[in-house]
Amino acid sequence: MSFLDSFFGKKEKSVLGVDIGSSSLKVVQLRKERGQAVLETYGELALGPYGGSEVGQATNLSVEQITETLRDLLREAKVTTKNCGVSIPFARSLLILVTLPYRKDPAEQKTVIELEARKYIPVPVSEVQLDWFVVPKSDPVQLTEADPHAASSAPETIDVLLVAVHNDELALLQSVVTNANLTASFYEIEIFSTIRAVVEEQTRPVMVLDVGAASTKAYIIESGVVALSHAISIGSQDITRAISVSTNVSIPRAEALKKKEGLASPGTTLEGGELVFSRIFAEARRVLVQYETANGKSVGSIVLTGGGGVTKQLGAYAKNTFSIDVHVADPFMKTEAPAFMRPVLEEIGPEFAVAVGLALRKLEEI
Ligand SMILES: Nc1ncnc2c1ncn2[C@@H]1O[C@H](COP(=O)(O)OP(=O)(O)OP(=O)(O)O)[C@@H](O)[C@H]1O
Ligand SMILES: [Mg+2]
Repeated sequence: MSFLDSFFGKKEKSVLGVDIGSSSLKVVQLRKERGQAVLETYGELALGPYGGSEVGQATNLSVEQITETLRDLLREAKVTTKNCGVSIPFARSLLILVTLPYRKDPAEQKTVIELEARKYIPVPVSEVQLDWFVVPKSDPVQLTEADPHAASSAPETIDVLLVAVHNDELALLQSVVTNANLTASFYEIEIFSTIRAVVEEQTRPVMVLDVGAASTKAYIIESGVVALSHAISIGSQDITRAISVSTNVSIPRAEALKKKEGLASPGTTLEGGELVFSRIFAEARRVLVQYETANGKSVGSIVLTGGGGVTKQLGAYAKNTFSIDVHVADPFMKTEAPAFMRPVLEEIGPEFAVAVGLALRKLEEI
């Protein structure tokens, strides 16, 4: 921003999404131009080498180590703005869907929700940041047909999605942000960033599978709202480990093999990797069936995202397993970028879904 820009009060138009994942940091910088999100820069840096483990493996680093990585990444990616939004790992948050008594008065409703939340949150409420969303009733038409008075009378209950994040986790993220010389206006649980970046408005529920390094997160989204969320404790690092064992090579070599081959040659060297994916999908299927049975609705499609979602041939493999529509996420599609970059952006997109989603929310502030 030039002196004249600030003199005339022109606001800076660039924003940054910062995704602190278990295996790597990702940033995406966007700018708003004629109401469009324009991609300015993006970058990723593996955390492993900063904490004594391998690229592609999950880490548990100190604030200092994460900060150092982030500083390096901001420099390497030539990030020019400090204004950011930051992700909170799903694993460090709590999302619970509860049915609570309805109150007409919003203040009273707030009290009911806050009091009831205590029952569901396993630590004192003073130790967490609590948030909630009222979930819209999904089938009002059917309701009125069955009971003509239902529409005019107030509902007895409401469904509320309770969201809690431990204060310690927020403090850690705030330290990283401050030490890296950034300014964050919000911290968002990664699930919401992902949805913004990869889920289109659909009439039928959508399942999102975020295949990260340490775990795979399964979300079911209905009318834009999270109806179910579940962590599967197997991720893409386990594919690498399995390949390493089955082919008797080092972790870095197995990591390279995984990225080069993907599932392109099932039954050959990557057999171990395929087995791990089948375990992930088996658990995801259980989640899907459980949702469908409990709600009497069928999931219309699956979106694959996260670094593991980049795995070659995974889309076809998933389609075969689930027998429904499967898409690999393409979050950069929501941004303007030079045409020659499209093939690369399409390929790496799933890794950056969270960072894109954060940057898109941050752009709304402008
Ligand atoms: N081209 C590729 N093919 C296969 N796997 C890949 C590819 N690129 C990255 N991965 C794998 O994706 C994983 C990283 O994914 P991602 O960046 O989404 O994880 P993360 O956000 O750090 O972890 P988490 O979400 O679990 O906290 C690594 O295990 C990496 O090996
Ligand atoms: Mg992630």
